[in-house]
Amino acid sequence: MSDDNENADPRKGITRGRMLLLVTALVFAAGIGAVGYVYLEQERKALLARDAADPTSELGWMFIDAGDVDLVIEGRKVYEANCASCHGLGLEGQPDWQKRGADGVLPAPPHDDTGHTWHHPDALLFAIVKLGGQEFMPQGVASGMPAYKDLLSDREIEASLAYIKSRWARKNLRRQEMLTNQRQ
Ligand code: HEC
Repeated sequence: MSDDNENADPRKGITRGRMLLLVTALVFAAGIGAVGYVYLEQERKALLARDAADPTSELGWMFIDAGDVDLVIEGRKVYEANCASCHGLGLEGQPDWQKRGADGVLPAPPHDDTGHTWHHPDALLFAIVKLGGQEFMPQGVASGMPAYKDLLSDREIEASLAYIKSRWARKNLRRQEMLTNQRQ
């Protein structure tokens, strides 16, 4: 039997046609898979880059204990001397704190239950106070939150936040602590 005869067999012809179709489909699927893989790799790299650029992950996880009475007492002093001028003695923030001023800068938000401080994990709060609000603003948006890294020790920054946390309703404190622990 010659090759020509094999090719002439109509059943074999159909089989080969199917084979060709199958191979084409496989190559096609592999192509889609490869493109998908490259896309996912890019996504992953972008996510990793974003994570690396996130000062929260750089600073790592931290827990600030609002139940530590000494820390809270110290924090009250730090808060009243450094933060109350903007955020208010009663943590009430500045009036109309959600509206940008003529200079485009937001007024100081409240740190009590009516604000959104308790929506953020401890490491992020610490980073905002230490590095200043500018670090966390989209490009071109000015922040009115100063950096305290040259003015307060890490312990003082932690204490001011422990004091703020100690003023939240128990329910909100518990939620914020769950959020903090999720990032561990
Ligand atoms: C000169 C005014 C000013 C002082 C003083 C100040 N802040 Fe702020 N703070 C702001 C403003 C304005 C914001 C709003 C966000 C922004 O513009 O970056 C802010 C935001 C924050 C936030 C983020 C709140 C959130 O929900 O995103 C924290 C936490 C904070 N301040 C803590 C402190 C602490 C603690 C001190 C004292 C050690 C302090 N601030 C002193 C003006 C001030």
